[in-house]
Amino acid sequence: MRPNFFHHLHPPSIPARQSRWRYTLGAGGTAVFLVLVLIVTGALEMFYYIPTPGEAALSVQTISFLVPFGGVVRNLHFWAAQLLLVVTAVHLARIVFTGAYAPPRRFNYLLGLALFVLAILLDFTGYVLRWDQGVQWALVAGTNLIKTIPGIGNSLYGALTGGAQPGGATLIRFYAWHVFGLTIAVVVLVGWHAFRVRRDGGIAVPPPALREDNERITRFELVRREVLAMLLVSAALILLAVCLSAPLAPAIQNMNASSAEAGAPWFFLWVQQMLKWGDPFVWGVLVPLLVLAVLALIPYVLPLPVESELGRWFPKSNRLAQIVLGMIALSVLILTLLALLSSTNAN
Ligand code: HEM
Repeated sequence: MRPNFFHHLHPPSIPARQSRWRYTLGAGGTAVFLVLVLIVTGALEMFYYIPTPGEAALSVQTISFLVPFGGVVRNLHFWAAQLLLVVTAVHLARIVFTGAYAPPRRFNYLLGLALFVLAILLDFTGYVLRWDQGVQWALVAGTNLIKTIPGIGNSLYGALTGGAQPGGATLIRFYAWHVFGLTIAVVVLVGWHAFRVRRDGGIAVPPPALREDNERITRFELVRREVLAMLLVSAALILLAVCLSAPLAPAIQNMNASSAEAGAPWFFLWVQQMLKWGDPFVWGVLVPLLVLAVLALIPYVLPLPVESELGRWFPKSNRLAQIVLGMIALSVLILTLLALLSSTNAN
């Protein structure tokens, strides 16, 4: 068979261990595919979405109920965005729990972390674009957190929202960031991240001398596996999009009304829970930034995995990094569950 464009993205052959599902979980590749789905479905939504406070929620309803296949396209966009966060978090966990961030892959770990942050920001800005009562609390509380940053808070708030409170200028700014600024940054970083994977010698496995097996697979087999994974992910996405609709609520009437649903999107529930403990700057800004700093420092300050232990789960040599990530993940999970419990009690 003559190789096509997709075959040329890979080297002619790679060690079989680099492409085992049980090692990589296929999470990085799935994330790339979800980014592509998001770009295509998001571009289609742009034909109908209107980024003004008076029309935004109505245009989302038009997409959902009146535009042919609009509901499916919107649901695909919504579910691909939620899955991207889950899959990226799983990918990050795989990288730390297998020690794949060790040099020469330290820099690529940071590129990946930047992608994770961008994916969260894309999800949040996209969520706000609904401009309905379901997003009102998170919009007001989230942007107010910016004001609490000492010194630069107020000017940062002004730059982000374009006024003294969220309004038309905020919506158009969030829209521009969502469809332009953040999306371009993700596309550039995904390309750079994938290029670095190749440049750093492919997926982390022990050097040939320390490998137990030297079996290799061809690029044809690799592309076959990737296509299979894409088909499975597409099937899951279509099933979700057909069975479970993305949320909708009545348009925002009054930005100061307190009757709006008081809840952050699921990926910020852990922050919402911490905000109950007091100082919004400490719990809403400083602690999340500290968590990010700890994640970024993992490959630089904690003991690194040894070469012979690469390519397998939970190596002994980087146990401390695994414990640190495990504790962060457990804390975020417990805080999220507490937030969910208190919102069901309140209803
Ligand atoms: C949108 C987000 C992301 C995309 C699209 C993405 C994509 C990929 C792909 C396709 C691979 C190669 C295959 C694989 O390991 O599954 C990879 C590897 C890698 N990624 Fe990511 N990634 C993302 C986020 C992250 C994050 C959050 C981290 C860690 C903080 C990270 C760190 C790495 C590292 C270190 C490698 C090399 C792995 C190895 O050699 O075993 N990536 N990424």
